[in-house]
Amino acid sequence: MSDRQKTRARPNPRRQIAESYCSILNEGIRRRSVLKGLVAGLGGVALAPLLSSQPAAAAAAGSLSFKELERVRDDRDHWPEGYDRQVLIRWGDALFPDSPAFDLATLDGKAAERQFGYNNDFTYFMPLPHGAATADNGLMIVSHEYASPFLMFPGLTDEDYRDTLTDDQIRAIMASVGLSIFEVRRTDGKWAVVLDSSYNRRIHMGTDMAISGPAAGDDRLKTKADPTGRAVFGTISNCNGGITPWGTMLSGEEGAMDVFAGDYTVLPNQELVERQGWDEEDNDIYAAGRLESRLRFEDEPNEWMRFDWVVEIDPLDPSAKPVKRTALGRFTHEGAQCAVAPDGRVVVFMGDDDDFEYLYRFVTRDPWNPTDRAANRDLLDEGTLSVAKFESDGTMRWLPLIAGEGPLTAEAGFASQADVVLNTRAAADLLGATPMDAPEGFVVHPQTGKLYVAMTENEDRLAAGEGDEAEQVNAANPRGPNPHGHLLELVPPDVGDKPDYAAETFRWDVFVLCGDPAVAEDGAMFHASTTANGWFTDPDNLAVDPAGRLWVATDGPPPEGIADALYVMETEGEGRALPKLFYIPPVGSECCSPTFTPDGTSVFISIQHPGELRMDDNEDATSIADIGTLWPDFADGMPARPSLIVLSRNDQAVVGS
Ligand code: FEO
Ligand code: CA
Ligand code: CA
Repeated sequence: MSDRQKTRARPNPRRQIAESYCSILNEGIRRRSVLKGLVAGLGGVALAPLLSSQPAAAAAAGSLSFKELERVRDDRDHWPEGYDRQVLIRWGDALFPDSPAFDLATLDGKAAERQFGYNNDFTYFMPLPHGAATADNGLMIVSHEYASPFLMFPGLTDEDYRDTLTDDQIRAIMASVGLSIFEVRRTDGKWAVVLDSSYNRRIHMGTDMAISGPAAGDDRLKTKADPTGRAVFGTISNCNGGITPWGTMLSGEEGAMDVFAGDYTVLPNQELVERQGWDEEDNDIYAAGRLESRLRFEDEPNEWMRFDWVVEIDPLDPSAKPVKRTALGRFTHEGAQCAVAPDGRVVVFMGDDDDFEYLYRFVTRDPWNPTDRAANRDLLDEGTLSVAKFESDGTMRWLPLIAGEGPLTAEAGFASQADVVLNTRAAADLLGATPMDAPEGFVVHPQTGKLYVAMTENEDRLAAGEGDEAEQVNAANPRGPNPHGHLLELVPPDVGDKPDYAAETFRWDVFVLCGDPAVAEDGAMFHASTTANGWFTDPDNLAVDPAGRLWVATDGPPPEGIADALYVMETEGEGRALPKLFYIPPVGSECCSPTFTPDGTSVFISIQHPGELRMDDNEDATSIADIGTLWPDFADGMPARPSLIVLSRNDQAVVGS
């Protein structure tokens, strides 16, 4: 989440075990990383192409030959010469043959449930049939993270919208968040939504869902509407996500508390409230408490604990009920990147996107079954949740969060695994996990086996020797304060010739330290040839394209006044950590989740919250009247619309090459 969204007050973390890292880190880690980068470059580490298709194989030779963009900040979006940019679908566009036309004057919940939602974040192109390398036909799986009512409807302002929204508008907002799943097809180089596809589906705040895993049925998840603690309506704050090997989507619920109304101090489980965090100033962000008593703390004190989980959704079966998998813990879930261990167990890597929070991993108890999809249905209910602890010698360990083991005793509040998953952060505190700088994107590099993870930024990180030890710099978060963020590279050990993502111990290194290399006090670390356009700050979503290049989308416009953007770089060889600026969205936007066709010839990108900042002073827009852009329509009476775009080369060759 961006700083703009990060409004929850941070409670005093009860970290009894805090590790003392010292000033060895800045210089020591930096020297080691730079050395490693140079060695890799001189050694000419070659990337094996994932695909044997001609375009991808050619790209893997190591060239990012597109002409890098110049930095610009205006009300349009910008892409490289020689590329075609298509707006594939916008907020309010049809997803079904009977979807009503987008009309703000009549928009209500029923209409919005048939249309593409607002503020698309996670985006994934799944070829059809699943598992094939089809490049012209697939499913788009998209999350809609949040809504900004005063930028959606004319006449509202950020000050008065809760009182002036109509009930129909509130229903429309509740139906505009969640997820969209729909089929797309490319014909003669142009992409289109397949409106009559049987896969097309909307999921939102009213969709019927199940709760499974250790916390299912727990008294703390029971409500008047659901005395079983196993059924819930809807999903909230669907941030990023991941795709399982069997083709389901995992959606991270990231901070649902903001949607609830009332006084959190009346809630019965204050220890959970404190450690999960709350919003002092700005809850009830959709005014939805007016319509549904379950969203008011006073009326339904347990409802909020039924959110902030990972939700598993089957995009291949529109009738399948989504399931909240509580074994993966409850925290501010960003994404859920999946990998497979050599023995077939599935490993899900997750960041908890808040300052000083942790990296987690879930390893299934059983291997997945590649030949019987149904056999994997409840695989994510049994397994081990762990949290990461980084050492300054370049190793890291995954510490299991198991009730009854180590400090997770009944006396400490962890009598059952339900206690652990409901209060994951507090359990991780007790194990002495390493507090990170707001971890977001995680990606597995399929050719090298390494993992990359983005720490967005953390202005509150303290220098060595200041304040609370847990909030001081540590080896893996070596700058205090850290206003620019960084990327880490995690290296699992091999078993045979396969990376063991389930191993207890990995190695790690700093991949880049973000910031402007020309400003000494930033302490940035990129490849020495990085241009004035190529460096970035605030990394968020990560992706690896079919040719093995790492793509980084930043977390909204950084405070430096430069635009949010999408960058691409290589991870091995001479171009290691040498980013190039590829795409710039309109002012105030955040580009998210680049995803590629298997042949690498098209990249889809979500454009979230266009115009959220004013053009003239870069401050928050307060209404449609002062919004920074009316992209992509630029039409009278039409607000800015979050949209999904797709970029392809005019010659249909591999994107980026
Ligand atoms: Fe939804 Fe952490 O960004
Ligand atoms: Ca994010
Ligand atoms: Ca983002």
